[in-house]
Amino acid sequence: MGTRFLPATKATAKEMMPVVDKPLIQYAVEEALAAGCDRLIFISGRGKRAIADHFDVAFELEKELERRGKEQLLDEVRNIVPQGVSTAFLRQPYPLGLGHAVLMARDVVGDQPFAVLLADDLILARRPVLTQMVEQYNRYHAAILAIQEVPPEETNKYGIIRSKAWEDRVHQVSGIVEKPAPDHAPSTLGVVGRYILPARIFDYLEGLPSGSGGEIQLTDGIAALLNERQVLGYEFEGRRFDCGDKFGYLQATIEFGLRHHAVGKQLAEYLHQLATGGICSYVADEPKPIPFPKAKTKTRAA
Ligand code: G1P
Repeated sequence: MGTRFLPATKATAKEMMPVVDKPLIQYAVEEALAAGCDRLIFISGRGKRAIADHFDVAFELEKELERRGKEQLLDEVRNIVPQGVSTAFLRQPYPLGLGHAVLMARDVVGDQPFAVLLADDLILARRPVLTQMVEQYNRYHAAILAIQEVPPEETNKYGIIRSKAWEDRVHQVSGIVEKPAPDHAPSTLGVVGRYILPARIFDYLEGLPSGSGGEIQLTDGIAALLNERQVLGYEFEGRRFDCGDKFGYLQATIEFGLRHHAVGKQLAEYLHQLATGGICSYVADEPKPIPFPKAKTKTRAA
């Protein structure tokens, strides 16, 4: 529900928050496309209609860009979803958890292996992370979870695996728990929002009781899948930003901004100026925003 970003997310989906000039969800879509996915399934809740609009044809906008001769923008707007790629939009009626959301895609996915991408985990990588994971999948034909070392005091924010190091960057998973307290965590290897899973997971998600936080957890489905399938943890190459969190989002904005063809150089100069001018410090006593003036109440003259 994007509560950590209220009021920004009051009327719009957190996945539509822009990092520089693209909404988070578009970064996830581009990563999926780069990895060879040709069917995109969006599972969202009420109040997230903007996501479907973003990936639809914007007739009036396109006509206007055409009229103004803005060819490059027109191209960008038109090719967000390239030809030959299909989209499906599903709505989860109640926020019952990630496992429940994934289960909603069962009929559309069929019996193929599929990838899950959580758009608020934005990853800066030379080779897109899902592409790296598909390579691992092609090698091992196992379920693949993106993992990274997390600070020991933050295990309660992640699915945490129990595993044995196997090959370079690859771990054999023998257990997984959702958001364990630091003193109960089996390791400090946390799952990041990228998964490649076999369709068999749906059988386990079906009828799963609610778990951590009262939600139906994908992690619990994976824990059940472990009884019969090989699950691998893959330490991806790249840097992940938790864009569901204000600080992570700001970091991502700076890092992606620095790499942006149009504003990168200017932003780098600006940050340099801030840092060397000694003004790159916490500004606690900035002028406060001006409150909306209260309606004046008339005082009657005596
Ligand atoms: C979800 C998963 C969790 C995973 C995390 C990665 O949690 O349930 O296992 O580690 O994404 O971002 P959420 O952050 O949605 O609570």
